[in-house]
Amino acid sequence: MTDFTATRALFHLPEGVIYLDGNSLGPMPRAATDRVARTLRDEWGEMLIGGWNRAGWMAQPRALGDRLGRLIGAEPGSVVLGDTLSIKVYQALAAALEMQPDRRVILSDSGNFPTDLYMAEGLIAGLGRGHQLVIVAPEAVEDRIGPDLAVLMLTEVDYRTGRRHDMARLTRAAHDAGALVLWDLAHSAGAFAVDLAGTGADFAAGCTYKYLNAGPGAPAFIYVAPRHQDAARPALSGWLGHAAPFAFEPAYRPGAGIERMRVGTPPVLQMAALEAALDIWDGVDMDKLRARSIELTELFIALVEPRCPDLHLVTPRDPGQRGSQVSFRFPDGYAAMQALIARGVIGDFRAPDIMRFGFAPLYIGEDEVRRAADILAEVMENRLWDDPAYHIRAAVT
Ligand SMILES: Cc1ncc(COP(=O)(O)O)c(C=O)c1O
Repeated sequence: MTDFTATRALFHLPEGVIYLDGNSLGPMPRAATDRVARTLRDEWGEMLIGGWNRAGWMAQPRALGDRLGRLIGAEPGSVVLGDTLSIKVYQALAAALEMQPDRRVILSDSGNFPTDLYMAEGLIAGLGRGHQLVIVAPEAVEDRIGPDLAVLMLTEVDYRTGRRHDMARLTRAAHDAGALVLWDLAHSAGAFAVDLAGTGADFAAGCTYKYLNAGPGAPAFIYVAPRHQDAARPALSGWLGHAAPFAFEPAYRPGAGIERMRVGTPPVLQMAALEAALDIWDGVDMDKLRARSIELTELFIALVEPRCPDLHLVTPRDPGQRGSQVSFRFPDGYAAMQALIARGVIGDFRAPDIMRFGFAPLYIGEDEVRRAADILAEVMENRLWDDPAYHIRAAVT
């Protein structure tokens, strides 16, 4: 059984802080300092270039992909790590579009994260084949699926509202229309159990720095369903996705299976931090995690709503339709969030007016939720946010 008191002790959290922003950047696993130090000292320091073979650096993107794969329901050998999520979205979308030569529509929704939409725009321009990016409201996605659809590209959990799409249903609808599906799991991986194989997803990508707690700049992952791996042509044909990188052939030949989605040199130090994070995840029962996450988000909503009438809940009330975050709309949300942070409750703000709070059961419990709700109520009831200092915007919100 997953003991959430025990997992809490495995993270470093600064004294006096209630951390409700693990949906943006997870906290540091305590073991990461030693794990990264070991890679620096014993591997890079002592082995020098020998680390690629002797310390297994080159094999890590696949090996860690398989460990992470359990959390997202991926078949062994279908996930690889590297690059950033933006890059992995581009690669997956490019491969999917090429597998749909007679269709031109990419469908997404207005709740998708901008980088996914920007990457699609850039890819469309580069291809120059008249593809069209259609963006509809999240509730209108299913109705827009039709015979012109090449790829349905969605982020499962809306980064602003926390609304969760029905992955199985939309994947089925897209497949019935002859389309392929690409899921962005940035706010899903580590938030609840994802079932990529079970839902029949074609492609997926996600990051490891949010709920997975692998640190700032941690590598992204890409999933390609086994049935597509031999057909998926890598648009970013880097040497480490080549069938024989160290043959240094002048022409590109795609590697076997998911290996072809690698691009260049893997980020070894970040992989070490990810390993420390996965050591924790290996022991986590995802059903228990989900049950706890729902308890915490339900509690927060129940405590905040009656005491903060100025905050408008934008996260679905039905727990089955949300990820592991709760968001409120408030016109002075930026200042209110700064007032909260000044009082030790860390969440974040997304323009134009969304206050976001992430709930990660690995290190957040009922006590923290109660205290955070009390502090939020105090900020709102006494208009503590109405201080000029809290209105000055930092670069990262
Ligand atoms: C849904 C989603 N996709 C993509 C990204 C960012 O991708 P990258 O890791 O390339 O910065 C984010 C960042 O928060 C995100 O929430």
